[in-house]
Amino acid sequence: MTSGPYFWTTGNAAKAYCLQWIANEVEKRGVDAPLTILDMGSGTSGNFAEFLQANPKVGYIGVEPYALACEAARKLLPQRENIRIVNDLAYDLYGRVITEPVDIVVSFSVMEHVVQRPRYLQTVYDCLKEGGTFLINYDAGHFNPNRDLKEKLKTFLSPWMARLGMEGRYQKFVPEQDFRQWVQQIGFEIVEAKSFNTQMKGLHKRIPSAHQQEHQRRWLEYEEWLNEIVTDYSDADAFLWLSRNFILRK
Ligand SMILES: C[S@@+](CC[C@H](N)C(=O)[O-])C[C@H]1O[C@@H](n2cnc3c(N)ncnc32)[C@H](O)[C@@H]1O
Repeated sequence: MTSGPYFWTTGNAAKAYCLQWIANEVEKRGVDAPLTILDMGSGTSGNFAEFLQANPKVGYIGVEPYALACEAARKLLPQRENIRIVNDLAYDLYGRVITEPVDIVVSFSVMEHVVQRPRYLQTVYDCLKEGGTFLINYDAGHFNPNRDLKEKLKTFLSPWMARLGMEGRYQKFVPEQDFRQWVQQIGFEIVEAKSFNTQMKGLHKRIPSAHQQEHQRRWLEYEEWLNEIVTDYSDADAFLWLSRNFILRK
């Protein structure tokens, strides 16, 4: 039996953690208070479909360069005027795509695919309201070029594809020191840094669907506890924790 929070999407502890953070924020502000989320690299927007259905006052702008994913997102999301999908790379959006600064920006599993990283982070900063929050996670663990031939090829070919304008397939490790330096130079305050997605992420796929909510709850609880007792992190830990997760404030 499930007790505790309901997860809109399961299978990734970092995303579940951020979505829970957003659900708490909506509850704190009051469900009738309008709030807008900008989702950088939104894919099919599957993380937000159920959440937006349940929270009609929450506005959502998804920015995604892959046209087919945009089409799928438009079919998946509720049709209403405070929800839109923009088919574009998430660079220089303020004044062009975003005209009013937003309350929350999310970037889930995108940063590791972004070619121009400081420009991407500056875009987030420009789109946020003063005091607004940026929830970002990126995968560190699945870019092990030593793992198999497919990973080796992807890591080798994707920078060349990016030069030909195919940025969406790019993949490169995000070094901790670089990330911290970029966000601090731009002016973000680092409110929190955590790591998620131990090998329990792989196990989740084996959990029968009737138990996935409960498994997600126990998994997240376990990893939140791990974060309390293991507070140091270096790039060498990237294969223990598959995702880094930051909460930043403007
Ligand atoms: C692993 S998917 C994650 C999708 C979604 N955020 C999620 O959590 O399901 C990475 C996405 O980043 C997008 N992407 C890559 N480079 C991007 C960029 N510069 N700006 C915006 N999106 C980008 C890709 O097209 C892809 O949809």
